[in-house]
Amino acid sequence: MKHVRDPQRPHERALDPARLPRHIAIIMDGNGRWAKKRGLPRAMGHRAGTEAVRAIIRSCDRLGIEALSIYAFSTENWKRSTEEVGVLMGLLLSYFRSEIDELDANDVCIRILGDIDGLPRAQRDAVLAAMDRTRHNAGLKLNIAINYGGRDELRRAMRALAEDVRRGTLDPGAIDEAMIDSKLDTRDLPDVDLLIRTSGEMRVSNFLLWQIAYAEFVVTDTLWPDFDDVALCKAIAEYQTRDRRFGGRPETALTR
Ligand code: FPP
Repeated sequence: MKHVRDPQRPHERALDPARLPRHIAIIMDGNGRWAKKRGLPRAMGHRAGTEAVRAIIRSCDRLGIEALSIYAFSTENWKRSTEEVGVLMGLLLSYFRSEIDELDANDVCIRILGDIDGLPRAQRDAVLAAMDRTRHNAGLKLNIAINYGGRDELRRAMRALAEDVRRGTLDPGAIDEAMIDSKLDTRDLPDVDLLIRTSGEMRVSNFLLWQIAYAEFVVTDTLWPDFDDVALCKAIAEYQTRDRRFGGRPETALTR
């Protein structure tokens, strides 16, 4: 934990440092509505959303959160207009180019969730370079979902297991949950504790379907570009009021 008791940030000070979520996942929704409300093109909403990404990464780092997973571009987002896809891909590319030095200096370890092979060449090269450069960093585990779908991730994991069976190195009867975990993009990460969705929609939209099995869900009406460290701490405070039972009875509840 870094500055959770920072007196400059009373919303951070109010959190119980012993009960922080290890892994926070965020469905960043509402960029388009944020822009529309201001009479701006959608691209400006996505640009403002990128600023919110920067701020939330810094907050998670400051709080000492172990892992943050953010949903930047889904396997379904390719259905958007060519112009909007181009804007999002451009923002992602410039994000990696402009932020990599600071992220690396802050010991952030970057991982891409999703099918990297399906990305345009420049984006693929940039994300692979970012992952490679930060792979040994021991700070915040920052997972950026790009060309990601929960079903697609499971499909790729199942195919990898089937390949092992075909090669004769895996007995189908030996497949357990840990083995499935080990084939997912999130391998070696803890399960999601807190799933946040901005802009009021009550959907999981194909995000981390396996990993959110026992996540606590917090939905806020705040549009993603307006989501700041105060909003993040409010969501964490709400999480800290939840009684997590992981399917057990209260007296047998886990407290991890
Ligand atoms: C959903 O809002 C948001 C997205 C599909 C893209 C999220 C991308 C960013 C926040 C910026 C780039 C990310 C990084 C990591 C640099 P929407 O457009 O569906 O909003 P709407 O529902 O109000 O139309």
